[in-house]
Amino acid sequence: SPYWPGLIEAYRDRLPVSASTPVVTLQEGATPLVPAPELSRRTGCEVYLKVEGANPTGSFKDRGMTMAITKAVEEGAQAVICASTGNTSASAAAYAARAGLVCAVLVPQGKIATGKLAQALVHGAKLLQVEGNFDDCLALASKLAIDYPVSLVNSVNQYRIEGQKTASFEIVDVLGDAPDVHCLPVGNAGNITAYWQGYREYAADGPATRTPRMWGFQAAGAAPIVSGKVVPHPETIATAIRIGNPASWTKALAARDDSGGRIDAVTDRAILAAYRLLARTEAVFVEPASAASVAGLLQVAEAGGLERGQRVVCTVTGNGLKDPEWAISGAPAPVTIPVDSAAAAAQLGL
Ligand code: F0G
Repeated sequence: SPYWPGLIEAYRDRLPVSASTPVVTLQEGATPLVPAPELSRRTGCEVYLKVEGANPTGSFKDRGMTMAITKAVEEGAQAVICASTGNTSASAAAYAARAGLVCAVLVPQGKIATGKLAQALVHGAKLLQVEGNFDDCLALASKLAIDYPVSLVNSVNQYRIEGQKTASFEIVDVLGDAPDVHCLPVGNAGNITAYWQGYREYAADGPATRTPRMWGFQAAGAAPIVSGKVVPHPETIATAIRIGNPASWTKALAARDDSGGRIDAVTDRAILAAYRLLARTEAVFVEPASAASVAGLLQVAEAGGLERGQRVVCTVTGNGLKDPEWAISGAPAPVTIPVDSAAAAAQLGL
């Protein structure tokens, strides 16, 4: 049917809800799985983009947040808290507003994109900018959730993972089976954990005959899982994944190893190149962190690590409008003209 009730209703039998659970939804999920002809041409594969920027607040976080806020309400919470590089706070603020809960968010000062800050504020979150990085914010939020009556809605909350695993279900439901390879950006490592859980459940219960190899990509300046060491001062232009000590580190290693996959680093230069390629050729505008999945796919393919003919899905995690800075700074300044068709034609080379 053309009506989509949101992912909890759509996948109710695979989620920890009962008939009396008060579902909080903005009809998230059912995001497009868009064929990517240019990426397919470059890799000799059949590449698709799972466009998570099409969710209500513009990122995949809404999948986890519909579950986390629903369960918080069911358990009688009055207030929720999260640490965030921006998208989690935007999503938490929106779903908390919908549910009538107080929402507190801790973000690294000066390191979250303008659009995400705007979302947290417009939905009425109590926002604190912390003089530290995301890892400091998460440690603070976790401590506050222990010491005060406030529920933590970061991805260490298993309900977040439960909601986010539905992206794998949607992909299998559209393609008819799991892809050969699934690429995604890795920050705090909740999403790679969730996708892997979703693919495993679908393979165990019948809708899929197999699981994909999970390929995760971290920004080179924030790649603790690749180096095997905490990064005390992570740096990358992809602020969403500027994380040095991921909470789901061990689970990401399990997803990598159990799937026969890989977790590699991609440079900021490669991330920006993929960001522009996506916008110019596939016509999909994502935020820089999201382009890490595509940068990684191209990097592996160019190094000869991808057989031709594979079916590949890249998750692009967030909408480009959240962080327009790199779109504008990377383009020539627009030319100003008088109200005159000859002047316009001359500038346009017509
Ligand atoms: N892409 C985007 C756009 C993100 O916002 C995030 C994480 C990731 C990828 C990485 O996902 O953490 O599950 O490995 N953003 C979090 C936040 C940290 O606070 O919004 P992950």
